[in-house]
Amino acid sequence: MGTMSKMMAIATICGFVLAGCAGTGMKTEASLYERLGGKPAIGAVVDDFVGNVAADQRINGRFANTDIPRLKRLLVEQICAGTGGPCTYTGRDMQTAHARMNITEAEFAALVEDLVKSLDKFRVPEREKGELLSALAVMKPDIVGR
Ligand code: HEM
Repeated sequence: MGTMSKMMAIATICGFVLAGCAGTGMKTEASLYERLGGKPAIGAVVDDFVGNVAADQRINGRFANTDIPRLKRLLVEQICAGTGGPCTYTGRDMQTAHARMNITEAEFAALVEDLVKSLDKFRVPEREKGELLSALAVMKPDIVGR
């Protein structure tokens, strides 16, 4: 299953769980997208994160030929869509986008570290941070060693 289909499947399962509360008076939970603070907050985190990556000598060489504004836009779309927000991801799937790069575990960990720095800087709470990082961990097999 591709990354987006996995995310869709997870979203569908969560949808059923929420639907189970319909009409029972039980409060449904806000989506991760909403809890993160929506598009403006995601945009601010992505901006800062890409800044960290650009300054990170362990991995910035990988992005030498990358259109950075486009990458930022796609990251915002991907996070927005994948967390239950009103966006459509228009980029390539993770396997295709990272094909023949031979990205290592260490490089993947470096990128996650750069993201965690931004999430901490913007005081994203532990729970939301954990949920976002779990969603990224699911993509790891599609990105590392391809
Ligand atoms: C969970 C971790 C990651 C996520 C969610 C992610 C996400 C993305 C997305 C959405 C794109 C744009 C897709 C497209 O061009 O259509 C992309 C491209 C790219 N990613 Fe990642 N990525 C991750 C990890 C990494 C790592 C660890 C590296 C290398 C250290 C990396 C290097 C790149 C490069 C160089 C591109 C641009 C490819 C190009 O310009 O053609 N990514 N990534």
